[in-house]
Amino acid sequence: MASEYIVNLKHISKTFGGIKALNDVSLDIKRGEVHALVGENGAGKSTLIKVLAGVHFPDDGAEIYIDGERTVIKNPMDAIRKGISVIYQDISLFPNLTIAENICIGNDTVWKKHLNWAEINALAEQALAKVGAKIDPAMLLKDLNLASQQIVAIARAISFNSSLIIMDEPTSSLSAGEVETLYKIIETLRNENIAVLFISHKFDEIYRVASRVTVLRDGRYISSHDLAAVERQELIRLMVGRNVEYLTMKAERISEQQILKVNRLCKEGNFYNISFELRKGEIVGITGLVGSGRSEIAKAIFGLNIPDSGEIILEGQPIVIKSAADAVKHGISYIPENRQLEGLLAKNSVCQNMTLAVLDEICKYGCIDTKKETAIAREYTEKLDVRPRDIDKPVGQLSGGNQQKVVLGKWLATNPKILIADEPTSGVDIGAKIEIHKTLRQLANKGIGVVVISSELPEILAVSDRILIMHRGNIVSAMNKEGATQEAILAKALGA
Ligand SMILES: Nc1ncnc2c1ncn2[C@@H]1O[C@H](COP(=O)(O)OP(=O)(O)OP(=O)(O)O)[C@@H](O)[C@H]1O
Ligand SMILES: [Mg+2]
Repeated sequence: MASEYIVNLKHISKTFGGIKALNDVSLDIKRGEVHALVGENGAGKSTLIKVLAGVHFPDDGAEIYIDGERTVIKNPMDAIRKGISVIYQDISLFPNLTIAENICIGNDTVWKKHLNWAEINALAEQALAKVGAKIDPAMLLKDLNLASQQIVAIARAISFNSSLIIMDEPTSSLSAGEVETLYKIIETLRNENIAVLFISHKFDEIYRVASRVTVLRDGRYISSHDLAAVERQELIRLMVGRNVEYLTMKAERISEQQILKVNRLCKEGNFYNISFELRKGEIVGITGLVGSGRSEIAKAIFGLNIPDSGEIILEGQPIVIKSAADAVKHGISYIPENRQLEGLLAKNSVCQNMTLAVLDEICKYGCIDTKKETAIAREYTEKLDVRPRDIDKPVGQLSGGNQQKVVLGKWLATNPKILIADEPTSGVDIGAKIEIHKTLRQLANKGIGVVVISSELPEILAVSDRILIMHRGNIVSAMNKEGATQEAILAKALGA
């Protein structure tokens, strides 16, 4: 008889160079259930799933059971053969291969010495149909957007007959509409009796898709619950180990003084006729589906995407911004969405990364004033609660959320007049998210104009004084914080 559990992990520990990322963790996943794995940044979630996926080998004493049978997972391919597939955040498929090839590669049933393309295409089509995706399997993967690539990765997992599909923060790069599609696919998987282990920092989503939850804290197992039986506040307390209060902070005073005015900005194929203003002390939120032009506008203001026409007016004066250097000179800072590519030097220390944008300030006669450098890095690791509090650690070894905090710190250190943040808390845990929202509000209260771009509607509602909603390159609606609801915003973003 099949076991009630598809996976049981017991006594899982994992040490990296003396640091215990996991310390005697257990996890039980029932067949066909959607199980959420939660914990603060650095709690060990990604490490735990990498053990399950055969990427990390656990320390001695670990016990892994699949379908009730004790087993050892030797490597990633071994995990896949045993029915465990992982969809990583960066997808990690092959951009230059077709969809069909990406789905079938490594699949013993069709990937043989002599490839039968009809068979391969048929298997790919079948898998795509199961997730309800209308994607041509002959297309190259790189021609799909991230959301569709993720769907291909799920189709791949299905074609391997996985009984457990693991998703590490799958919605962190998706827009509201795409998130809905993913939820539907998860529903389909559940109906097929395929279990899903779901890592997320978004509480609305956890309650929406999962039926059970396991909490990790500081590399340890805390507890597992039926989500119907545990309140949100309690779950946060279990994650953080203390009570956390989330007050949305109101603006202290938004001055009448306009700091930025964008006038009829156009860029063919990106955005059209964009006009809005930002006042000192104000936080303007911009939301809309991915691809609606939000990030392109941010880049235009920061000199990374030169518009065809229109004006940018800073404190009453029209300015010309042709490069990021121009923007920085005018006191504009920009936190990019794609931090791995645009924001961080993985091999360099937290300290070096944090001070990268203020090198001018900390350099004297061509030498770095290390005292100043350390002081700045200490200040922002402290403020943003970067863990571990070790400014000499290479950034690449921090957990995803903590890397995020370093990029944010880097730009906050520049003391900007205008701060544009694209998805500032993507991948950041609830405690740190609250801290980042507070920091943004404090910056605004100091007189900085802040633009926050976010796909996460609860975040937009929590931080913004005014909300601009984009659809296909146009601002289709502007709402004041008062009276704005998630439903109303989503309807506009979808073009209703
Ligand atoms: N390859 C590695 N070398 C050294 N330390 C590592 C490595 N991978 C992870 N760690 C450490 O292990 C701990 C757990 O990291 P992990 O990535 O599992 O956290 P997480 O719960 O996934 O966090 P997040 O929500 O930020 O993604 C962290 O302290 C991290 O710095
Ligand atoms: Mg992680």
